[in-house]
Amino acid sequence: MTDMMTRIAGLTAGLINTVWPSAEGTPDAGELRGLLAVPPDPALGDYAFPCFRLAKALRMAPPKIAENLCAAWTYTDIADVKPVNGYMNFFLNRANFAAETMQDILSKGESFGSSDIGNGKTVCLDYSSINIAKRFHLGHLSTTMIGHSLKRIYSFLGYSTVGINHLGDWGTQFGKMVCAYKLWGTKEEVDKGGVDELVRLYVKFHEEAEKDPSLDDQGRAWFKKIEDGDEEALSIFSWFKEITLKDTEKVYALLGVSFDSYAGESFYNDKMGRVVDALRAKNLLTVSDGATIVDLSDDNMPPCIILRSDGATLYATRDLAAAMYRQDTYHFDKCLYVVAYQQDLHFRQIFRVLEKMELPWAKDCVHVSFGMISYEGRALSTREGHVVYLEDLLGQAQKKAFDIIMEKSPNLDNKEEIARQVGIGAVIYTTLSNNRIKDIDFRWERALNFDGESGPYVQYTHARCCSVLRKAASLELPAPDWSALTDDEAQNLLRLMSRFPDVIREAADKYEPSMITRAVTDIAQAYNKYYYEHRILDGEPAGIAARVALTDAARAVIRTGLYLIGVESPERM
Ligand code: ARG
Repeated sequence: MTDMMTRIAGLTAGLINTVWPSAEGTPDAGELRGLLAVPPDPALGDYAFPCFRLAKALRMAPPKIAENLCAAWTYTDIADVKPVNGYMNFFLNRANFAAETMQDILSKGESFGSSDIGNGKTVCLDYSSINIAKRFHLGHLSTTMIGHSLKRIYSFLGYSTVGINHLGDWGTQFGKMVCAYKLWGTKEEVDKGGVDELVRLYVKFHEEAEKDPSLDDQGRAWFKKIEDGDEEALSIFSWFKEITLKDTEKVYALLGVSFDSYAGESFYNDKMGRVVDALRAKNLLTVSDGATIVDLSDDNMPPCIILRSDGATLYATRDLAAAMYRQDTYHFDKCLYVVAYQQDLHFRQIFRVLEKMELPWAKDCVHVSFGMISYEGRALSTREGHVVYLEDLLGQAQKKAFDIIMEKSPNLDNKEEIARQVGIGAVIYTTLSNNRIKDIDFRWERALNFDGESGPYVQYTHARCCSVLRKAASLELPAPDWSALTDDEAQNLLRLMSRFPDVIREAADKYEPSMITRAVTDIAQAYNKYYYEHRILDGEPAGIAARVALTDAARAVIRTGLYLIGVESPERM
């Protein structure tokens, strides 16, 4: 079924043609849909069409246009209309709107809002992209969860998606780390200490190198060995990689996040020649201070360095190679880079270089930038020792959720499992609750506030719907009478749910999972308002059936919304 706004837009466009058959430059149904507004106060109507958009084409004053259109409107089974100050205001026929919306949602269930607009197209998503031999900390949460959510959103819209963890596993620091291990490390200690021990060795290397600068040369020499494929160097380095990945895998498992590819920076080691050749063929390379660069001064940017004076490649070179490889391999329609705003310039440079190379797909690369996260009012800083490891944070989240559940619902089965879903869900919801470019301050009080705008609040509403449905399951109910859903609260809930498919598409267009967080929160609030003002299981059986169906629709939409942001929906809480 086409949604209500599309239908009203189509009818209105048709009406304009009927009333003024020879007018030119009037909007077609598609444009008109974009012009339809939703009045802030439902008393003014469900939708409004601003007639001043027609004033020029019709050479007529907007109030007059609105009057003419309203007089000609015959589709009263869909909506009544009223001219107000140059607007044509639509008042939906509530019973029909309820019937149509309910049938639409119930026929699709949890796939309501999905579509096939992405059919045949591929989206690559570069997210999380951790660095080897570093602990996974709170600073990585946004990239991980925004990327994961966008992947689900695009898949839901029918796209093929490729989740890529572009590992930071290349650079002289890894030579230093191997060097430090050879000098001061043991297999036992690394096996026991894991990433922490790797970090300790790295820190020690820097301390010692201050006293003995020759260590830096040794570090470089070890990196050269890695580059050249020396067996010992490579095996130590791959082992460090394995240790890091095993450590992060625990966190990914808790978050429910996975990847299709772990092709990181080192993967492109043997694919750089192509980039340099392609740049040279396009005459884009110049030498400056011994380094090989692409000059970007015309674009008011510093040069993009391709090769250092010693011939070594850089982060940027590897990103150029990665972009080309991804296009060759996946033929992406879009390649998204979910990376913090600190790298804005880096991506502007990379994308500009791809454009200068005249690669037609350069315009399909998008930097999905996001703001900083702080913890309980304090900025994270490795230097000042203010770090929050994700494993600890998620552990604490589960524990805190467990304590709350113990207090609120002591008789619940599976408390541990539900505490996991609620604790982790609270953290993820917080990460995706704001416009992504805004900074976030993570606070427990807010994240776990069961009554506020939080993950647990939305999950709780879902569980409430499930509980109503469990009670209703034993009733023998007739076919629903949708006219039982014409009250303000039901209509508000229906309206929000009917817009959910639009929200998903817009969230994809704007790379903004928070739009789904917002929508699912609004729907949960609307359901709760409905729940408090109406007795769902009392009254006429056909009315009960309608209210139970409404509850089921809310359950399905909330569950889908939470799924799309990566949050689970327990059935009991
Ligand atoms: N590993 C990098 C960092 O932590 C992020 C990589 C982002 N992806 C990319 N293709 N550059 O800063």
